[in-house]
Formats: sequence, structure tokens, C-alpha cells
Amino acid sequence: MNAVQGKWALITGATSGFGKAIAELLAKHGCHLIVTGRRAERLESLQHILEEKYSVRVLAYCFDVRDLNQCVEMSNDLQSREIVPDILINNAGLASGKNKIHEGLIGDWEKMIDTNIKGLLYITRTILPMMVARNEGHVINIGSTAGHVVYPEGNVYNASKFAVKALNEAINLDLVGTNIRCCSIDPGAAETEFSLVRFHGDANKASKVYEGYQALRAEDIADAVLYVIGTPPHVNITNMVIYPTAQRNVFVWDKKG
Ligand SMILES: NC(=O)c1ccc[n+]([C@@H]2O[C@H](COP(=O)([O-])OP(=O)(O)OC[C@H]3O[C@@H](n4cnc5c(N)ncnc54)[C@H](OP(=O)(O)O)[C@@H]3O)[C@@H](O)[C@H]2O)c1
Repeated sequence: MNAVQGKWALITGATSGFGKAIAELLAKHGCHLIVTGRRAERLESLQHILEEKYSVRVLAYCFDVRDLNQCVEMSNDLQSREIVPDILINNAGLASGKNKIHEGLIGDWEKMIDTNIKGLLYITRTILPMMVARNEGHVINIGSTAGHVVYPEGNVYNASKFAVKALNEAINLDLVGTNIRCCSIDPGAAETEFSLVRFHGDANKASKVYEGYQALRAEDIADAVLYVIGTPPHVNITNMVIYPTAQRNVFVWDKKG
């Protein structure tokens, strides 16, 4: 028996990148899944593949985490099925745009603030009470090194990830006296659809972000999640910062070419 076998993990944003890799790894270890995202086809295909490949139960909820009503609906549906997530992975998020603050697009800012901060809060507020009632659970917030140091033109994305860092600390404080643990896993550069989304679908610009060095892979973050969850109940890793070896902080890189 491993730490996740037979448990239920809720992963937001499981249609690509970290969320998808985490879903795959947890399912491989016998964990039942609740996966979310806005792209229905991808979600359904993930559900079928993981159910068939690993014989675990997979529930898929297609919705936007910015919509509080839909977050509540998912939570109500889980309660009606008497399913309490043992693990909550607040992963859904994005960077949208990379501009100087005085040239930023308001629509980009709203997307980032509404998804990275408010979406995380909505999901946490609707799911965490179930964990508290049971006095058991593990919350993993996917933050970022962008939540530790601000970089030029990162402005609102940085601010949203600084907020995730603060909320991760706040959740830990408010859960003192319970058995619920809470960790922010904060990656540096990782090759996912992140840059494609950030640059509004410009594949050329996106691929340049990953040129000349080995970026983190989504699977690296999934490994870290499994490690954190697998620690004994008296161990609470509250923060894990993970850079690719070629990137020592937000500014110091070893890029070839
Ligand atoms: N890649 C990096 O370099 C990096 C580094 C540090 C932190 N991060 C963070 O890691 C997390 C995952 O990013 P990723 O790199 O895996 O990027 P990704 O491949 O673009 O995946 C993002 C996931 O979030 C979901 N999502 C985005 N907005 C959503 C919304 N409003 N409602 C529901 N789901 C939403 C997407 O699903 P749908 O589009 O189907 O909704 C997708 O499944 C994000 O919080 C990101 O900020 C990434």
C-alpha cells in the first residue's frame, strides 16, 4: 500500500501540463481522481484513459474555476456521492500576457487574478470544509517562483502568485490544531502549455522560452507532489521551490546558444 492508493484526489486544471501529469502519476499509484478543466474533450479522454489503464475511479467536472456557482455545484455533487477529497491540488492557473504595467491589458489582468487567486479561493472554500469536518486531508497549491521574486513585465502574474504564497501560509495558520497539511509547490521554468497561453497562442514566442536549456517537465512536478503527499502525517512540508538545474533563480540562467 502506498500513500495515495484508494484515496481521492481533486486536481484542478488537469487537461494539460502539471495537472495532467499529476493525474496520471496519482492514478498509476491507485488514487481515485476528480479532474477539472474547461476543455471537455480532453477531460473526457483523460477520464477514459486513466480509468482503463489504472482501474481507478475518475470523475470529470468541466467548468471554469472563475465561476463560483460551478465550484459550489461540483462540491455539492461530491457531497451527494459521499466523496470527500483526501487531497486537493489547486493547480488551475495561467499567465496571460507579458507587458509593462502601463501597457498591460486589463482583460489579461482579470483572467490571472480571477483564476489564480479567486478560483483557488472558490475551490478551497467549497472543498476544505469537508476535510475539516473529517479532520484529515492534504492541500497542495501550485504557486510559482514568480511568487517569490518579481521579474520585469511579470507584474500582475507575479502579484497573483505572491497571493498564492500568502494564501498558502494563511491556510496553514488557520488549520493549526487539525491534521490537515498544506504545501505550496513553486516551480521555475517548466515546459507545458503555459507559455503558449501566456503569449496568446503564439507558438514561436512560446518555444523561445524553452530554448538552450533543459526546462522542468510536468512529470517532475508530479513527482514532487507525490513525494509531499507521501510523507508521514506528522510531517508538513509547507513550501517546495523547484528550479531546473540551468536556472538558479529568476534571473540567473545557463542558456546555450
Ligand atoms: N509552466 C511553468 O513554467 C509554471 C511555473 C510555475 C508555476 N506554474 C503554474 O502551474 C499551474 C499549471 O500550469 P501549467 O504550466 O501546467 O500550464 P498549462 O499546461 O497551460 O495548464 C494549465 C491548466 O489550468 C487549467 N485552467 C486554466 N484556467 C482555468 C480556468 N479558468 N478554469 C479551469 N481550469 C483552468 C487549464 O485547463 P483548461 O484550459 O482546459 O481550462 C489547464 O489544464 C498554473 O497555476 C501555473 O501558474 C507554471
